Amino acid sequence: MLWSCNPTAIPLNRSITLFGRTRVYCFQSHTMETNDETPKAKALSFDFLSKKPYSPPSWGSHLKPIPSHVFSLGHLPTPIHRWNLPNLPQNTEVWLKRDDLSGMQLSGNKVRKLEFLLAEAVAQGADCIITIGGIQSNHCRATAVAAKYLNLDSYLILRTSKLLVDKDPGLTGNLLVERFVGAHIQLISKEEYAKIGSVALTNVLKEQLLKGGRKPYVIPVGGSNSLGTWGYIEAIREIEQQLQARSNGVKFDDIVVACGSGGTVAGLSLGSWLGALNAKVHAFCVCDDPIYFYDFVQGLIDGLQAGVDARDIVSILNAKGLGYAINTSEELKFVKEIAEATGVVLDPVYSGKAAYGMMKDMAENPKKWEGRKVLFIHTGGLFGLFDKVDQMAPLVGNWHRMDVNESIPRKDGVGKMF
Ligand SMILES: Cc1ncc(COP(=O)(O)O)c(C=O)c1O
Repeated sequence: MLWSCNPTAIPLNRSITLFGRTRVYCFQSHTMETNDETPKAKALSFDFLSKKPYSPPSWGSHLKPIPSHVFSLGHLPTPIHRWNLPNLPQNTEVWLKRDDLSGMQLSGNKVRKLEFLLAEAVAQGADCIITIGGIQSNHCRATAVAAKYLNLDSYLILRTSKLLVDKDPGLTGNLLVERFVGAHIQLISKEEYAKIGSVALTNVLKEQLLKGGRKPYVIPVGGSNSLGTWGYIEAIREIEQQLQARSNGVKFDDIVVACGSGGTVAGLSLGSWLGALNAKVHAFCVCDDPIYFYDFVQGLIDGLQAGVDARDIVSILNAKGLGYAINTSEELKFVKEIAEATGVVLDPVYSGKAAYGMMKDMAENPKKWEGRKVLFIHTGGLFGLFDKVDQMAPLVGNWHRMDVNESIPRKDGVGKMF
């Protein structure tokens, strides 16, 4: 194993007040680089939060530009297991890749993109990260946490309704994590966002921070640019390695995933097309529409000089329903029923809608899916469930007050608990 010093680590002084006393600490981001890629070596080493030189899979080595470095931020590889969904077409198998288990505060698909994006931010000498998204953006939450792990500040522009834009956004779901790690939050109304656009908004904040002597690095919505796309190109290499390690040789025919800003599906479809996996990728979009995403994915893969047509490598279907982050009670009931049937909790905004869309398509077009082995990517987002508790409440019952007879004699267990 090779260890060397990372020349781009940023030493940073921070003051912390604990028990009434303020102290200044000098933090240093992790400074080790390792070249040993095996999952076991990663688990045994202090690989987490380290930065290492990046080399692409052989089948992706013609893509350009190739990132020079990558941070280890996710708990990878994430598990793959059989998902016993009810009412599948004949002989269809669904398997689940648990990218929801890629971390805790960092959970979900965004961490894979951030591994590349933050390596570039650090290489450029950034001292803070700007990004933008919806009020319950999983991407903004993951960015705020990952940035703080690497001693970078984060500035988040969050989109909310006109009614709420001047109010304290509260602590529900992703906001709790963001505010705990000290992200600087600026709210913008949906109308302002639609009028000005995410690029101009992040530019405004960037100019302000530059004037204040900061060195910001801007990550676009969802971390979806060509550099972030490497995150899911790498995920395909990870799946290939997981399949190679299995003795009874499962081969996936299809990959199914939610699409919100396009980067995940761009990486998966390009990797699956170029690599040995060769599975058909189906994206279920939860906002905008398929035509928009075909063009957007095309832009991302053109940015890597891939020379392929997005329409040849992915099929994009609409699963938006009532609108982005808006759920019908039928969708929420589906999420609840899947949890009850399989133990797997889906988020309502992304994987919940994608799985609902997949099951609907399977019911309407069973021949398309019969006998196929499908890998569904659970992209996380569970903090978003907390934003839906009011709508979810009528769907869950199963509690009652325990019936105890006052005459039952006391018997001590472990601890007194009061
Ligand atoms: C939990 C979750 N799943 C899926 C997606 C969609 O991924 P992408 O933005 O790369 O299309 C997002 C973000 O948009 C997300 O937060």
